[in-house]
Amino acid sequence: MGAVPDAAEYHVLYPPERAGLRLPPDPGEAALLALFDDPPVNPATGAHIRAVMLASADGAVTGADGVAGSVGDPGDRRLFAALRALADVVLVGAGTVRAEGYRDVQVPHRLRAARAARGRPDRVTLAVVTGTGVLPEPALDGDPLVITSSGAPGLAALRAGLGDDRVIVADGPTPGQVDVGAAVRALAARGLTRVHAEGGPTLLAALVAAGAVDELCLTLGPLLVGGPAPRVLDTPTWLDPPVHLELAHLLRADDTLLGRWRVATAADRPEEEHVPETIVVLAEDALSAADVAHVVGLHAGEELAYRVLVPADTDRPLLPWVLDSIGLGELRAAWDRLTGDEPSEPQAKATAEQQLARSLAAFRAAGSPATGAVVDDDPLPALRAAVEEGAREVVVATYPHLVEDTFHRDWASRAREALHVPVLHLYLGTSELG
Ligand SMILES: NC(=O)c1ccc[n+]([C@@H]2O[C@H](COP(=O)([O-])OP(=O)(O)OC[C@H]3O[C@@H](n4cnc5c(N)ncnc54)[C@H](OP(=O)(O)O)[C@@H]3O)[C@@H](O)[C@H]2O)c1
Repeated sequence: MGAVPDAAEYHVLYPPERAGLRLPPDPGEAALLALFDDPPVNPATGAHIRAVMLASADGAVTGADGVAGSVGDPGDRRLFAALRALADVVLVGAGTVRAEGYRDVQVPHRLRAARAARGRPDRVTLAVVTGTGVLPEPALDGDPLVITSSGAPGLAALRAGLGDDRVIVADGPTPGQVDVGAAVRALAARGLTRVHAEGGPTLLAALVAAGAVDELCLTLGPLLVGGPAPRVLDTPTWLDPPVHLELAHLLRADDTLLGRWRVATAADRPEEEHVPETIVVLAEDALSAADVAHVVGLHAGEELAYRVLVPADTDRPLLPWVLDSIGLGELRAAWDRLTGDEPSEPQAKATAEQQLARSLAAFRAAGSPATGAVVDDDPLPALRAAVEEGAREVVVATYPHLVEDTFHRDWASRAREALHVPVLHLYLGTSELG
């Protein structure tokens, strides 16, 4: 067993029960491999696909020289080598093969005992995805599997050079495209179920879009490179819906962070099923049936849930409040406020609770699901939290505030600037929008 060429020491930062654990350089990598060992195969593909990528802190997967190594360091190389030892097959796109000069993929001698202990042969199979079927000669030296399409210009030459058995045809929906889900199932059918997908970004995007990736090991190096380098996924189309990840491990080696995320399945996120989108309603007073009809009517025909927030208002700016009141002819209330007759905190809370209860009752009477809370008299933190939890829009229901509205310092204007979601301002007791 030789020395470890990239002798970075890892510190486990996550999960909490392992935080503080040190993984000093170890030629056989027993402790490191135990962290990443043998997750279950995915029934949809018959395989487990671990995507392994490296990026600079600004998200570039290469430096100016067009290869990954220039954004890497010993911390990244140690994990990369160790994870190959857990794989049956290294899956890679033709762009990476060309840019990185892939030949046969090797597992260092020092890790072969770990492979043998898991019943794996010394060699890891290399599988290359190519639409054209045209690969550089050296890449064919190690007898790789090549996965391509039936119209690939290089198909005949590949079959002649490698033999029919080493060439897998998996046609995608458009000419020249490989169906990567079918490709993975074909690997699994050959017993190659532990897939170490080394990218590049085009292949990884296709694998993620096909729902084939089970986990992502993404290392972030302490480097900013700018430039036009591709990101971790290279695709012109958005993933819709986005793919959610759950952090499984976070390691640190000097200034490099090494994360391992599992791709969340629908079963991991049951709350996403049949949950209607939420509209947050920030209400200055109890919403009447007419106010609720107005709010619900803004999205007629949609299945939505409402979250009502009522600030316990003990500390509004006095001058605008007084001027508003005077503007509305409420001189007595203005006088009470000026002479210090504003509600105490418990009174303000009790009033807000009543306003909330009446508002929720009005929503339920209208047949719309609603929950709610009394919040601090600066409602922005509560609004922000609701938006971070997924609310798609905010409706602010207030009485007209003459001074604040004039200077655009009202709740709705502040909320619109701060929240980056649509914010509608609705005047209570009217059908007007502010
Ligand atoms: N930082 C890292 O961890 C990392 C890892 C890997 C690569 N890289 C870098 O990424 C760059 C290469 O990026 P890339 O996006 O071109 O890499 P890539 O995904 O490896 O290669 C793209 C090529 O693979 C084939 N391919 C991929 N998916 C296909 C599909 N669904 N159907 C048919 N063909 C498919 C096509 O080959 P044909 O052209 O033959 O049709 C395509 O042009 C290089 O600079 C490399 O150094 C960085």
